[in-house]
Amino acid sequence: MERVMERFGSVGFGSVLLVCLVSGASALLHTPNPQSVCKSCDPQPANCRSNQCITSCSVSKTCPGPDDVCAAVWWRKAGVVMVETKCHDPKQPLNGVVLDDYSSSDCVLSLKVMNTSVLRLCACTGRECNKRLLLSKPDDQILPTSENKEGFKLAQVCRFCDIEFTACNATDVCESSCNITSICENPREVCVSAWRRNKGKPIMETMCHNPALPFHGQYLTDYNNSVCLMKQVKGMEDDFYICSCNQEECNDRLFFTDVSAPTEGVEKNPLPVLLVSVVPALIAVVVLLSAFYCYHVFHQQNLKATKTKGIDSETCAIIMSDDDRSDSSSANANSLNHNTELLPIQLDTIVGKGRFAEVYRAKLKQGATDESFQMVAVKIFPYEEYASWKTEWEIFSDAELRHENVLQFLTAEDRKAERRYWLITAYHERGNLQEFLTEHVIGWDGLCRLGGSLARGVAHLHADRTPCGRPKVAIVHRDLKSVNVLVKSDLSCCLCDFGLSLRLHNFMTPEELANSGQVGTARYMAPEVLESRMDLENIESFKQADVYSMALVLWEITSRCSAIGDSRVFVSPFGKLKDHLCVESMKDDVIRDRLRPEIPASWTNHAGVHLLSSTIEECWDHDPEARVTAQCVVERFSEISSAVISPLSADTKSAQDSGNDEEEI
Ligand code: ADE
Repeated sequence: MERVMERFGSVGFGSVLLVCLVSGASALLHTPNPQSVCKSCDPQPANCRSNQCITSCSVSKTCPGPDDVCAAVWWRKAGVVMVETKCHDPKQPLNGVVLDDYSSSDCVLSLKVMNTSVLRLCACTGRECNKRLLLSKPDDQILPTSENKEGFKLAQVCRFCDIEFTACNATDVCESSCNITSICENPREVCVSAWRRNKGKPIMETMCHNPALPFHGQYLTDYNNSVCLMKQVKGMEDDFYICSCNQEECNDRLFFTDVSAPTEGVEKNPLPVLLVSVVPALIAVVVLLSAFYCYHVFHQQNLKATKTKGIDSETCAIIMSDDDRSDSSSANANSLNHNTELLPIQLDTIVGKGRFAEVYRAKLKQGATDESFQMVAVKIFPYEEYASWKTEWEIFSDAELRHENVLQFLTAEDRKAERRYWLITAYHERGNLQEFLTEHVIGWDGLCRLGGSLARGVAHLHADRTPCGRPKVAIVHRDLKSVNVLVKSDLSCCLCDFGLSLRLHNFMTPEELANSGQVGTARYMAPEVLESRMDLENIESFKQADVYSMALVLWEITSRCSAIGDSRVFVSPFGKLKDHLCVESMKDDVIRDRLRPEIPASWTNHAGVHLLSSTIEECWDHDPEARVTAQCVVERFSEISSAVISPLSADTKSAQDSGNDEEEI
């Protein structure tokens, strides 16, 4: 301080600070544009709805070039909208295209046809302006929406995690902790949040909501606010707060600062909250910038003085930029793909028929010619089966479900004109496991591959963490059987048909769980499911019932393994494939007689099959608590397969040797 006083001689420090403030401010005004900060991610699925898309990119980068702007490239891959985000030098073409406008604060996509591919490109100026991409009007058949000054009304963008536990204790200001941003389905929807306790634990709900409809029985009155002001709902549970607002992601910050006002009544003015929260921050920023400017001037002069004295001082600064930070949570796309443009799909042959829907092999056209297409599977639900389509679509929409042993979901479509609902997924030409095992004998390696991947798929479904450690809602399949498992070209399995599946939120009540009823296929039902005696207090019991069904599928796979010497023709557990087994007859077999599929003595001939048989028996134990978990089966498979080297003779034994004309894998 003394040195500063010295340097400025007789001028008082107050005047110095004033000079600094003024010159700091003018320096700020005259400095060149700060470098842009843009979303920067490799291509990844985007969340598109109506006339806009939100990237799921969670990496922000300070652009290297002083003039760089933010840019995005949009295209469709197998029906899924992919978006690449980056910094871009406006002097260079973007993907070979010179755009008309680089200075807009909105990233407005324009359509570019390049050779055989169709791209949409945009560039914009402003912090992370390439996070939200708008579809330009003239060349987008995609979205004829109404209203607003340019002829569009943009749907709102809100935090949307439904219900999750929260650390927020309903005081002061809370962050929602929801990291999923979604474009609202309907342009009239606003952002809402609710906070309440469930069995003593605080939970937070974030979503879009149409204020014309009640939210938790309340009509919203504050939905035009720009911030979310929590209000206690009277006449409900003690601790129940809701708020609504109409600004991008405004339901992420929740103000519990004036919770006494009831939800009914006059809309609150957000100005005081804004004044209280923003003004001190602004003052602090101005003071800090001025102080920094003074320090900088002082330091530069000091440096010059030091250098002239012959001491070369070098400053090293390690700046942790955003791009240095690795972020493993980039994939939080919630895959709600609401493009109103229907995909160019040509249905081919029917490949499966289920309780609620039929599955077709289909060609997804990829270019102008008929030759370029990708095979996909289309599950078609009649209009009356809307609920089944929605259940399965909701299960698939959880980005954390994605796994190599779970059927890859591409998109869902409401084919209104045909009165049909579609789910579009990857196509696997080997078909389902039952068909595959009917036609093929497998070796020990094939058994480990099919069985191990089946267990990995079920373990992933049941897990409440992804392999990267991100939280995930556990899901139970509730209809595991060899028909609902597909065989991929590399001979691994993936689970399909999630029409009866259930997401196991920790806060589900026994009533909610009980309402889900006795579901599944009688042949594969665990004894406690057949008897409707599941422990509904414990969500683990749903997983235990899945493990029982998985054991029957593992038995089916093992029964076709040539490593045990004799491979029998394929039969379903508990009898012939075609027999329809009803719940009552299964109860007699499985509960009264404690019957299970036969494990022949020959299965002890092979050390690996012998060990696997014990695991299968543990999985179908009558006592659900005694069953091992799917994750444990995964570990058993890796132990068994690394301990038991496939005996050459068993694995190369042909199907002809075993007396049938099936192909051995
Ligand atoms: N059967 C049911 N779904 C299928 C799919 N995705 N691929 C091949 N066959 C199927």
